[in-house]
Amino acid sequence: MRGGQRMRFGLTPKKQWRIDMTEQLDLLHKITTRVAKVGVVGMGYVGLPFALEAAQAGFQVVGIERDQRRVDQLNRGENYIDDIRDEDLHAVVRAGKFTVQADFEKAEDLDVIVIAVPTPLTRHLTPDLQYIVEVTKSLSGHLRPGQLISLESTTYPGTTEEVMLPLLEKRGLKAEKDFFLAHSPERVDPGNKRWKTKNTTKVVGGVGPNSLEVAKLFYEQIVEGVVPVTSAKAAELVKVFENTFRAVNIALVNEMALLCDRMGLNVWEVLDAAFTKPFGIMPFYPGPGVGGHCIPLDPHYLEWKAREYNFFTHFITLAGEVNRKMPEFVREKAYRLLNRVGKAPSRSKILLLGLAYKGDISDWRESPALEVARLLMQDKVEVHYHDPYIPDARAAGLDLHSEPLTEDLLRRMDLVIITTAHKVIDYGFVVAHARWVLDTRNATKDLNGDNVIVL
Ligand SMILES: NC(=O)c1ccc[n+]([C@@H]2O[C@H](COP(=O)([O-])OP(=O)(O)OC[C@H]3O[C@@H](n4cnc5c(N)ncnc54)[C@H](O)[C@@H]3O)[C@@H](O)[C@H]2O)c1
Repeated sequence: MRGGQRMRFGLTPKKQWRIDMTEQLDLLHKITTRVAKVGVVGMGYVGLPFALEAAQAGFQVVGIERDQRRVDQLNRGENYIDDIRDEDLHAVVRAGKFTVQADFEKAEDLDVIVIAVPTPLTRHLTPDLQYIVEVTKSLSGHLRPGQLISLESTTYPGTTEEVMLPLLEKRGLKAEKDFFLAHSPERVDPGNKRWKTKNTTKVVGGVGPNSLEVAKLFYEQIVEGVVPVTSAKAAELVKVFENTFRAVNIALVNEMALLCDRMGLNVWEVLDAAFTKPFGIMPFYPGPGVGGHCIPLDPHYLEWKAREYNFFTHFITLAGEVNRKMPEFVREKAYRLLNRVGKAPSRSKILLLGLAYKGDISDWRESPALEVARLLMQDKVEVHYHDPYIPDARAAGLDLHSEPLTEDLLRRMDLVIITTAHKVIDYGFVVAHARWVLDTRNATKDLNGDNVIVL
């Protein structure tokens, strides 16, 4: 069998070298035969869908999640991520292919360990690697020859090699020889019905060629396309570049929205017309700001790291500045409208329609709607909200709950601000019964309401 494997992976049968490659060959074999046991650390938006795919591909999967409530839920087969079908999760739990635990006990039995823990920013917009460091330290106590560790969390170029590698090698095992270490950024787009974990191409880079070979083979068993790059650092930069690309382009159209407001033009009309050009342009749309766990954060990871190289990423700084100011612009536009109808903000009632950071999902992290709510509340506006996906906003730091979207509620409000465009909301009903609507998402595009003002 071993001979067959060597041929298959194009290895020469030199004796000394063969001894060094034993761990790699063993792992490659376990991966192709799906005997490898896979651990996924962090059962969130990234980790859980990946764990499910790995289990569906035939691997035995162990989730490691520090939130005991999530552990219990998953072990009962209960789903909490919108993009996952309940019956899919239930099936792998019932079949015994997927279990979840709250600690790293028996992590030495795992052959492949994928890490998908949060990478937030500190208050000063610098990388906060506490979760990655904590997990790496925990894993180092269970590291044994023949394991692959792959980091999927989004982070600055160099994290895998400069932060994780030394921690993992502390006890004497060597990467590339004894164990393998890679970075493979996750590209999941919550709420996207077409592009899921399985059919979205995955970039992979290792801390060396052996790690790359093992990681590439592993991901090829689970996702439909794998793109190898020559280092973990390159893979890390790929991901932060992708999100920087979005942040910069969103900032550009947001800036257009500010300019169109001054020029008395409808930015949506201008952009829709511009995007009819069949080449050299691609659609991005303005809004009340950027949200989620990626676009507002990831570019700042790169910005911070670039300084180590005496390099200033001006586009990132500028995009951050423009995008972060959008909630204030929404407030300004809302007050202009209220002023026009003779209403003082501090005596007005405003309904925010949508709290999630984008349409059709329940994720409120970094949502600009929350910032709009905070700004209005600071000015003593009576803020109400409706979001079919977020019944209660206390976890998001607001002492509010979603109110049913009734005619009575709409009539009682001085202004409705559409902060998130959820497809399930009947905007015709909203426009018909609201006094005034400030639409920051162009959700009322086809309604021609004369009580509607767009961003
Ligand atoms: N959400 C997205 O759309 C998205 C897309 C691509 C990449 N990413 C990146 O993937 C990473 C994870 O993001 P997410 O959205 O899945 O986060 P998440 O908050 O949804 O999930 C992270 C999970 O990790 C758990 N966790 C934290 N520390 C732990 C520890 N020490 N041990 C075990 N579990 C621990 C948390 O309890 C949580 O359940 C981040 O780096 C993010 O930038 C996110």
